[in-house]
Amino acid sequence: MSQLATTDVSLSYGDFLVLDKVTLSMSLSGLHGMIGPNGAGKSTFFAVLSGLLPPSRGSVSFDGSVLRAAGPAARARQGLGRTFQIPREFRHLTVRENLMVGPREQPGESLLGLFLSPARVRRAEAEIADKAAQLLDFLRLSAVADKPAGGLSGGQKKLLELGRALMSDPRFILLDEPYAGVNPVLIEEISQRIREINAERGIGFLIIEHNLMALNRLVEDLYVLDSGRLLAHGRPDEVLADPRVRAAYMGAMTEEVQA
Ligand SMILES: Nc1ncnc2c1ncn2[C@@H]1O[C@H](COP(=O)(O)OP(=O)(O)O)[C@@H](O)[C@H]1O
Ligand SMILES: [Mg+2]
Repeated sequence: MSQLATTDVSLSYGDFLVLDKVTLSMSLSGLHGMIGPNGAGKSTFFAVLSGLLPPSRGSVSFDGSVLRAAGPAARARQGLGRTFQIPREFRHLTVRENLMVGPREQPGESLLGLFLSPARVRRAEAEIADKAAQLLDFLRLSAVADKPAGGLSGGQKKLLELGRALMSDPRFILLDEPYAGVNPVLIEEISQRIREINAERGIGFLIIEHNLMALNRLVEDLYVLDSGRLLAHGRPDEVLADPRVRAAYMGAMTEEVQA
């Protein structure tokens, strides 16, 4: 079966072990969640999965092949996508333009004209425009399509980030805190779009989120990271009832109160 998997992934900053032999595997077709107290290493783990940071030890494999030194752009081309905050210099571009420009690091795009005839460049551009229009419609962003992206609400920005990831036709998407700074109505809307993307296009997700209630309703299983280690994995209700998971969160809360 097609999987995203890690084997003994460790990463340290100097003497500080941020990820400690994380071994897991998940289906590329499913909706999966990752939780853990602040500083547990979740974002670092995503950086390793997406190729932003090389692990100190261990390996990441995607659909049966080990991903070696490939960076985020190469991994995106292989089908492993992630969302990025809209870059500062893109905030004055319209929502539609943000979908059409593609990821900044995608090489070769500006070279398109060197290899293709003008007619084929125009056709390629028309296809991109079509795809963007369909995504705007699907994400309920058509009404703001020609407004500057900088003026969107927190939730609409998250939808646009999702749209930018979808433009490159990923098979699997990593989402880091899609509900952060989003009002409750839009949280439910984002969850609904994720369900539809999964059901209709077969795209799987791994989602890091602090909003456990919303995440619990969305995913089929949860991975818990604590101090860089995989502490638990299973069905969301089971994991959230696990005394070790509760203890990890309580410990983190106590530390925060003391800090
Ligand atoms: N560039 C860095 N240099 C040193 N330590 C870092 C760096 N980035 C993150 N850390 C540390 O690694 C740990 C895990 O961080 P992070 O992956 O952001 O956790 P999470 O996303 O679970 O909150 C934290 O203790 C954090 O302070
Ligand atoms: Mg984080």
